[in-house]
Amino acid sequence: MIRDVPKTADTSACIDGRRTKAISYAAVPLVLPMPGEEGGAWAKDTSIDGSSSLHEIIPEPRMPVTAVGNRAVEDETGCVGESEKRVAWFRWITGHQVSFILWQVLARVATLAGERILVPGGALRGMVDCARAYCGMLLYAGSCSQMTYATQIRPRMALCHPGFSGSWARDFAPVRDLLRGRMPPWADGPESGELRRAVKLSQLTHRWIAAKLVPNGQSLLQQSALVSPATVTDRRLTSAIYDDFFMVSRSPLPFCDVLAQLESRLDDITCDVAVYGFGSLEPCDFGEESDHVGARELLNLRDEFFASRLRVTSFARGLVEVT
Ligand code: HEM
Repeated sequence: MIRDVPKTADTSACIDGRRTKAISYAAVPLVLPMPGEEGGAWAKDTSIDGSSSLHEIIPEPRMPVTAVGNRAVEDETGCVGESEKRVAWFRWITGHQVSFILWQVLARVATLAGERILVPGGALRGMVDCARAYCGMLLYAGSCSQMTYATQIRPRMALCHPGFSGSWARDFAPVRDLLRGRMPPWADGPESGELRRAVKLSQLTHRWIAAKLVPNGQSLLQQSALVSPATVTDRRLTSAIYDDFFMVSRSPLPFCDVLAQLESRLDDITCDVAVYGFGSLEPCDFGEESDHVGARELLNLRDEFFASRLRVTSFARGLVEVT
């Protein structure tokens, strides 16, 4: 359970002797290029006068950026309090948005390494960092309690579409093979062992989150009486519904602007986690593989969170130079 969220002025944290900025717990719209889009994120600059175009594209936040009230997290009846709702919602949206960016970075690095623009060793190291940071984002996005998920998050997705599914994520498509464990041809050797392990860990972390938040194990897609994977075929529609839910709009954008959005979200997440932590990381039983993602692995992900944030952003900054 997350304890009460203080007013905005109090949400700064002290990390490495430096005080972080205060955060508002209001999710911010994300602008991304279509995955793999020509002249998109990876173009140096798409604005006419050479200045950043980000501020012209990003819409106003849908939620006002205001201080979070001092209401109790759970009232006497056990209902989810305003603060916990707010934190859980912020984490669900922001954790997903960061995952989308990490997937785009993973896809791009794989392509650049395949074209020999990046050396395989450096590409593999960067991809391991991104894959492990994605594990951290799964933990972060899914860090609320089962009750908060069941009452505040899942119903909102179900209202958007009864079969709402993570498999609708546009940015996941280019990395689906990789994140299901199939290495790209240039990395299909023993040197990719660490990447294979990071990918495996992401699969297990996803299953751990699913088992923690939905103990009966059924996704909306699986439980929906209206749709089945076979009947949800209109990809453009499902991708649009998914983007809209997570406050994502699509526009060609230079990578430096994608990077700026990644960094500002990671700043907020770093501050949030420093103050409130990741919630419970109790191991939960979800079958024979549960041993592999026991408490130790999850704690490792938690402990490396701050370092991994720095590695990922410095790797991504390096990519601006080579593209
Ligand atoms: C924490 C944030 C989460 C993220 C970022 C996420 C992401 C994804 C992605 C990308 C896929 C497609 C996988 C593929 O095609 O290989 C997927 C599928 C799936 N996810 Fe999640 N997921 C999350 C939470 C959950 C939760 C809480 C459940 C609980 C039931 C869940 C259950 C499933 C299932 C069963 C599938 C298979 C397709 C479907 O039935 O919708 N996921 N998820």
